[in-house]
Amino acid sequence: MIYLVYIYFIMIFSHINFSLLFLVIFLLNLVKSSCYEHPDPLNYFHVERIPCPYTINLDSQDTHINYGENMFNITFYCNDNDLILCNKAKKTFEMAGQIISETLILNTKIDVNATFFDLCGTDKEQCKNISFRRIIGAAGPARSIILRDDDGVDRLYPQSLVKQFRFKNHPEYGQFDINAKFNSKVDYWFIEDNLSIGKNQIDFLYVVLHEFIHGLGFLSSWDNKNGFASGWEDYMNDRPEALTPEISISSSDATRQFKFNGFLESAFDRYMIHIPTGNKTSAFTGELNKFQEIVGVNFQNEVDFVTKFHNSPQYQIAKTMMSFAVSPNTLGFLPRGATKADDAIILETSLQPYQQGSSVSHVDLKTYNNTGDFLMKFLADHGANLDNLIAARIGNNNGGHNAAIGPKLKLVLETLG
Ligand SMILES: *[C@@H]1O[C@H](CO)[C@@H](O)[C@H](O)[C@H]1NC(C)=O
Ligand SMILES: *[C@@H]1O[C@H](CO)[C@@H](O)[C@H](O)[C@H]1NC(C)=O
Ligand SMILES: *[C@@H]1O[C@H](CO)[C@@H](O)[C@H](O)[C@H]1NC(C)=O
Ligand SMILES: *[C@@H]1O[C@H](CO)[C@@H](O)[C@H](O)[C@H]1NC(C)=O
Ligand SMILES: *[C@@H]1O[C@H](CO)[C@@H](O)[C@H](O)[C@H]1NC(C)=O
Ligand SMILES: *[C@@H]1O[C@H](CO)[C@@H](O)[C@H](O)[C@H]1NC(C)=O
Repeated sequence: MIYLVYIYFIMIFSHINFSLLFLVIFLLNLVKSSCYEHPDPLNYFHVERIPCPYTINLDSQDTHINYGENMFNITFYCNDNDLILCNKAKKTFEMAGQIISETLILNTKIDVNATFFDLCGTDKEQCKNISFRRIIGAAGPARSIILRDDDGVDRLYPQSLVKQFRFKNHPEYGQFDINAKFNSKVDYWFIEDNLSIGKNQIDFLYVVLHEFIHGLGFLSSWDNKNGFASGWEDYMNDRPEALTPEISISSSDATRQFKFNGFLESAFDRYMIHIPTGNKTSAFTGELNKFQEIVGVNFQNEVDFVTKFHNSPQYQIAKTMMSFAVSPNTLGFLPRGATKADDAIILETSLQPYQQGSSVSHVDLKTYNNTGDFLMKFLADHGANLDNLIAARIGNNNGGHNAAIGPKLKLVLETLG
């Protein structure tokens, strides 16, 4: 038997109809007038589906790009009493925005809601849990919008990316593109410290840059948040068994019944391949989405869904994907223009068992740890600041901080945007 270990909460709203007329003009089509809000970056997979009616972007024609202009608009909240620390954190957020602005071509401002706070001061009960106390922080898209790609597949795009496409008509944007929350009680190192970094310290700039990149869409929806695992044993001792993209559901009332809208990839997933064969993993999503054609879309509750899914032929596909996600060098990101599987950027599939939030949505630690593309590995380095790390990896520090965005990462981000 299998069960949904983690059932996330989805706010439910009525379906809104809209005109389909103008959709054909886009390379990327906007579909369904619904958006997904991720209110808490520390709990990214708590998703709220909300209506977002179309609005017309009046200034979509005027693009002024000033090279080097900081395109990140950081709204900063600090609840730590140490104002000096707060100020250093704020400067670091701005510096990270500046680095990304100088490295990528952004044509529209990215609004970030950044909070630096004492995690345990606000949540004493949870802080009895040691692994909770170790949380550094997180950032992710504040809102995702469904777009139909030119391969006919609907995918979740982070709002920060959608804005760069400058659609004339688009679903209403939320106030913020990226939500970021960091624990102020972690032992960070800041540039202004004028001291060399301690061996247990972590450069806050490194952390913020890494997380901003996730917020810009370096994020796979092939994540085991749905907790498909075998057996009724304790979840912590259980091995996740199957992997699917985001399960999109909607329901209309307080009963546990829901309508299944399909397995939904993220923008990132469009470029994901199975390296040994060069096959696109989107083909698996297509296969998985045959489930609702056979079984239907209405379910009594989560157990009903999971039982039916488990008994369907599609479950084998989800098991195959899980086996890829825990076999080294198996999944990769094939940048636009690349044709050979050898050109893929290898994703993290060496973790055993599968680690939600670490597996797949990072670059392979073994391959990239000692290269200029170390930034998006899942483990952050302690005891070395970003400049030291860059110099150690690429042999020089001529590019300054901007070199933190390595050549392969740049390709990924250019492919997405
Ligand atoms: C920055 O974000 C804040 C909060 O959303 C907003 O009020 C302000 O207008 C934004 N500033 C710019 C220059 O976009
Ligand atoms: C921005 O962050 C603050 C502090 O974490 C939070 O109270 C507020 O609700 C957030 N704003 C939005 C629009 O998400
Ligand atoms: C402890 O915190 C971690 C990280 O948030 C969480 O994954 C885990 O489930 C928590 N454990 C308990 C027993 O609550
Ligand atoms: C670090 O050094 C700079 C220039 O040498 C100085 O202006 C600044 O006040 C110093 N910062 C601290 C925290 O000591
Ligand atoms: C890769 O795609 C080919 C052709 O569509 C198919 O025959 C093969 O089974 C696929 N391999 C895997 C591992 O899915
Ligand atoms: C990654 O590289 C750094 C130095 O370049 C080294 O200290 C660290 O142990 C490596 N980590 C892993 C997991 O290989």
